[in-house]
Amino acid sequence: GKYRVVSTKSMPGTRWIRLLTDQDCRVEICTDKKTILSVEDILALIGDKCDGVIGQLTEDWGEVLFSALKRAGGKAFSNMAVGYNNVDVGAANKYGIAVGNTPGVLTETTAELAASLSLAASRRIVEADQFMRAGLYDGWLPHLFVGNLLKGQTVGVIGAGRIGSAYARMMIEGFKMNLIYYDLYQATRLEKFVTAYGQFLKANGEQPVTWKRAATMEDVLREADVISLHPVLDKTTYHLINKERLAIMKKEAILVNASRGPVIDEAALVEHLKQNPMFRVGLDVFEEEPFMKPGLADQENAVVVPHIASASKWTREGMATLAALNVLGKIKGYPIWSDPNRAEPFLNENSVPPA
Ligand code: GLV
Ligand code: GLV
Repeated sequence: GKYRVVSTKSMPGTRWIRLLTDQDCRVEICTDKKTILSVEDILALIGDKCDGVIGQLTEDWGEVLFSALKRAGGKAFSNMAVGYNNVDVGAANKYGIAVGNTPGVLTETTAELAASLSLAASRRIVEADQFMRAGLYDGWLPHLFVGNLLKGQTVGVIGAGRIGSAYARMMIEGFKMNLIYYDLYQATRLEKFVTAYGQFLKANGEQPVTWKRAATMEDVLREADVISLHPVLDKTTYHLINKERLAIMKKEAILVNASRGPVIDEAALVEHLKQNPMFRVGLDVFEEEPFMKPGLADQENAVVVPHIASASKWTREGMATLAALNVLGKIKGYPIWSDPNRAEPFLNENSVPPA
C-alpha cells in the first residue's frame, strides 16, 4: 500500500479493511489491549508517516494529535461515532486535517436502545430480573413490580434530530404515546408522522395521538411522562439536566439518556433518585466514563448499561465502513459518498446539520 491508515481499535467486520486495502492503503490496527488509548499511545501509532486515522470517541483528538498527524503527512481523521465532542474541529482545521463522523447508520440502533431503556425503566425489568435470580419469587402478587403504562402517556424528546425523531416514532407508533418535543429546529417530518398516525387511529375508532413543539425545554420536563435526551454535547448542553430541572419533572417520570453523559449533572441525578423512589432513569452514558457517580449503582430506580446504544452488528460494521470511506475519500482526493445514509460531507468543510 502506498498510503498508511491507522485504526486505533479493531472494528467489527472486514468490509472496511477491504475498502482501504483495495485502494492502495496499508491498514494498521492497534493491538494494544488497553481499552482507552492515551494521547502518547496515539502519537506512537501515528509515527513519522501516516495518511489517515480512524479513531474512537474515548480519545482526545486535539492540538497535539492533529499537529502530529499533519507532520506525518496526514490528511484525514474519522471518529467511529456520530458524536464528536472528543474532537477539537478547530485544531483539525488549523492543520488542514479533514474530520469525519458516522451519522445515519446508527440512528435506528441507538433509538432502539433508548426505547429499550424506556421500557426497562417503566416496567422495572432489571429489578425484576435480579429478584428472580435471587430466588425471591414465591408467587404472584397484585403489587409485585408494578410500573407505568406508556399508552396514552406523553413522550418528551429533547433534541429531535435523527436519533431523537426515530426514538419518538418508535414510542408513538409502538405505544400510542403523545409527543412533546424541544428543539431549535422544527421536526417537520416527525410532526407529519404523528398527525398522520393520529388520523389513522381516529379512523379506527381509537384515541388519536397528538404532538406539540414546546416553546421551552421546561415545558417538556413538566409535561412528559417519559423523557429522552438526544442533543449533541457542547457548551450549551453541558448539565442541561440539573437539580432545578429535575425538580420540575413529574415525581414518577422516566428519564433516558443515550446521548452523552455530561448532558446530565449526574451527582444531582443520584440525589434526585434517592429522594424520589418512583422516579426512574435509563442511562447508557455517564458523566465521567467509565465511572458512575457515587451512589448511582445502589439505586434500584436506575437502569444502567455501558454506552452500547450503537451496538448492533449491522450498525457497528456500518460505522467502521463509513469511517474508512471518510478517510479513504480524503486521501484519494475524491469524495466517496456511495452510502445513501451519508448525507453530509466532512464536518469541517461544510456546516453541520442539526443533530
Ligand atoms: C456513540 O456514542 C456515537 O456517538 O456514535
Ligand atoms: C445525532 O447526530 C442524531 O443523529 O440525532
